[in-house]
Amino acid sequence: MPRSKSKILVTGGAGFIGSEFVRQAVKKGQKIVVLDKLTYAGDIKRLEGIKGKYAFYKTDICQKEKLEAAIKKERPQTIVHFAAETHVDRSIQDALPFIHTNVTGTQNLIDLSRKYKVKKFFHISTDEVYGESRRGKFLETAELKPKNPYSATKAAAELLVHAAIQTYHFPAVIIRPSNNYGPWQYPEKLVPVVILKALKNRKVPVYGIGKQIREWLHVRDCAEAIHFILKKGKVGEIYNIGTYFESENLVTVKRILKLLQKPNRLIEFVADRPGHDFRYSVDCSKIHRLGWKPKIQFAGGIKDTVQWYSAHLNWMEQKLDLLERYWKSVYNEK
Ligand SMILES: NC(=O)c1ccc[n+]([C@@H]2O[C@H](COP(=O)([O-])OP(=O)(O)OC[C@H]3O[C@@H](n4cnc5c(N)ncnc54)[C@H](O)[C@@H]3O)[C@@H](O)[C@H]2O)c1
Repeated sequence: MPRSKSKILVTGGAGFIGSEFVRQAVKKGQKIVVLDKLTYAGDIKRLEGIKGKYAFYKTDICQKEKLEAAIKKERPQTIVHFAAETHVDRSIQDALPFIHTNVTGTQNLIDLSRKYKVKKFFHISTDEVYGESRRGKFLETAELKPKNPYSATKAAAELLVHAAIQTYHFPAVIIRPSNNYGPWQYPEKLVPVVILKALKNRKVPVYGIGKQIREWLHVRDCAEAIHFILKKGKVGEIYNIGTYFESENLVTVKRILKLLQKPNRLIEFVADRPGHDFRYSVDCSKIHRLGWKPKIQFAGGIKDTVQWYSAHLNWMEQKLDLLERYWKSVYNEK
């Protein structure tokens, strides 16, 4: 079968960031194959607006034979690898699914990309691989010091990609975005949890005293940056993506409550996450030099995000049963 020049296989394309990447790709006229296991965090509804404009495989990247069948059939030129178990709290409860998907799944993709001669492999990693920074910003050359099971598996995956680059001249690029926010995020992560709980007039849990600092990147900017790296990034290189906008979690929570016109008394301080990283912060001079900068300021981005979730409360409510069980296990909720 001759292969199409522009076909991109996107793993985890039914997830929060992957789906935004896919929506943008379809808009650009790119040929897209989404491959996703559809875990609790995956949801094909995120792609409803572009129905029929992409191919879809419900496939687990840990099942190598099925994964191979999809890659053999589609013969993509490019793979963008988002699929992962992504929630730190869940990794603290049980690291094994993270090791399977994030480490073994990534190695399966490396092996099959080599076998089917994929031209470029874009590995989506995270700023969490650096561990926390009390002061200063991490350059791409900084040491990896992950502190929780999630970030340890993401670092392990990256090291396997790096090893393949060194050993086999595997044509890969590694990308490390900072904390994303925006529409369609599964409501177990900070921003949508606060919005969902507040809209339901329920207590809003904040870890410790809320002093942790995160660097916020709108998902639209993140996906645009990844598209930019697809065009301009060099094989063997690593690129941070961030905004330099940092905010303490408690400040972020209060900001969201204000936008929702909800009182601060909804905030409930809960026992801190074990090994909670204090601050993440990345130096983005490398991608800036290449010509990319974020477009969305946090003030406007978070306002639009709050509006989006308020208008899509229905989508979050469909996940409430599963979430209730999960919240009981992390926050000891009754
Ligand atoms: N969300 C963030 O703030 C952030 C920041 C930096 C990096 N990242 C990275 O970006 C990527 C996407 O993150 P996200 O927030 O969109 O995650 P998400 O949890 O919303 O989506 C993950 C997607 O991967 C799929 N998936 C999980 N296990 C799979 C498997 N075994 N086989 C096939 N598909 C599987 C899920 O069904 C889901 O659709 C991840 O690699 C994550 O580590 C996320």
